[in-house]
Amino acid sequence: MLAAGRCGIVREFRAISVVTLTDVAFQRCIVPACGATYGVDEVRVACDVCGSLLDVVYDWERLKPPDKLSFFETKWSRRYEPLSLSGVWRFYELLPFAPRDRVVTIGEGQTLLQSSPGVAKYVGVDGGELLLQYEGLNPSGSFKDNGMSAAFTHAHTINAKRAACASTGNTSASLALYCSVTKLMRAVIFIGSGKISYGKLSQALDFGALTMQIAGDFDDAMARVKEVSSQLGIYLVNSVNPFRLEGQKTIMFRVLEALRWEVPDWIVVPGGNLGNSSAFGKAFAELKEIGLIDRVPRLAVINAKGADTLYELYENRGLRWNGGQIDGAIRDDYYAELDAAEKRASTIASAIEINRPVNLEKCLRALDTCDGVVREVTDQQILDAKAQVGAGGLGCEPASAASVAGAKLLVSQGVIAPSDRVVCVLTGHQLKDPTATVAYHTTDQDQFNRVLGSRGVKRAAFANRAVAVPNQLDEIVKAIQLYS
Ligand code: F0G
Repeated sequence: MLAAGRCGIVREFRAISVVTLTDVAFQRCIVPACGATYGVDEVRVACDVCGSLLDVVYDWERLKPPDKLSFFETKWSRRYEPLSLSGVWRFYELLPFAPRDRVVTIGEGQTLLQSSPGVAKYVGVDGGELLLQYEGLNPSGSFKDNGMSAAFTHAHTINAKRAACASTGNTSASLALYCSVTKLMRAVIFIGSGKISYGKLSQALDFGALTMQIAGDFDDAMARVKEVSSQLGIYLVNSVNPFRLEGQKTIMFRVLEALRWEVPDWIVVPGGNLGNSSAFGKAFAELKEIGLIDRVPRLAVINAKGADTLYELYENRGLRWNGGQIDGAIRDDYYAELDAAEKRASTIASAIEINRPVNLEKCLRALDTCDGVVREVTDQQILDAKAQVGAGGLGCEPASAASVAGAKLLVSQGVIAPSDRVVCVLTGHQLKDPTATVAYHTTDQDQFNRVLGSRGVKRAAFANRAVAVPNQLDEIVKAIQLYS
């Protein structure tokens, strides 16, 4: 039976008889000085004792995980099994919080680590290697499906019937997709008004999610969805949910797999709500603890300049993990300043337009684990980098290109060496947000100014402009000869 007495938000869930693995996997407060633990069958997004975030932790001694990462290669020949096909669940032994027969998969994680010589040149990685982990190939077109598969599995394990999230678009698209494919739950999504790109909104609407458009931005929607899910007992799938991050660890497992288990020098990732960076840090810490890798890569988290809380707190105000003793006053003072100035997040990279990242503390821990750095990049830098990624054939949405823009910045600062092996995570597909792409390449100055100029973007250095021609054969032939 679920521990309903210890958690007021489980009213809607009925306990199921097959809750197993609770003795080898559990939830634990991330603050070592607290360390309160909770069963893996409980639904909670914070520690009851101190209010901090929770981890899913495993008793590796008893679980006896594989002693070589190459163990996972044995699954390649069993792709006919859904759990071996899934790029998340073929690493089941590294996230074994649910019984295998409760796992929900829709074939997520069939993603690529691809080299892109053009992007490497642009970034300035010369002699080393620049690789792009292209998460746009997921079923809903973003990395979110990695985490959603895990959170959804947990929700299914405890028999949830409704699941909710606040979203800048991709989490909601992913949740809506899992609900519509599996019919196991109803999706309830909270979005900021006018804050979500049409590509993502169209997915949520098409997949039938109950879509709540809040008069406010993502930070407002996030605060509300926490209240509402608590009040109505709806399962929350935002990345405050520790099970989400278990799925997102596998992005790094696939990077290692593609590198034949060699650890790269750098992982560069955009930072929004900071779930990915937190999950990556946890993945590497666990692999090291189990003895599957002997060193961890360095981590670079890249904020957009218009949504740069992590950059401000980490690089300018010196906020650190500090063994779990985070100086909360630094964070709280900064948030009070934001409120006093009525400053809202604002960037063309709408996916990461977030000022109050819910995973801040976990991300600080990841930066500690991975000797990390944080940078901010302008919308101009993001869009130029995005155009370079597109020219290399892996179209991504603006937020994703923050990783490439950030890598370029770090090379120019001498932090990343040109001889390093660098992995930039491309978090979402190009078609998620065509408005920014088309405005970047347009010949229509009004359109450029309306969409991009208002954000301080002045030029489109890598624009591929459409050629306007009259509808006449000889004129068309002449133009092709002139431009090709
Ligand atoms: N890239 C894309 C394409 C995203 O959709 C997000 C987050 C991020 C990067 C940032 O990742 O939160 O793990 O730091 N999107 C969330 C959403 C907030 O609601 O879809 P993070």
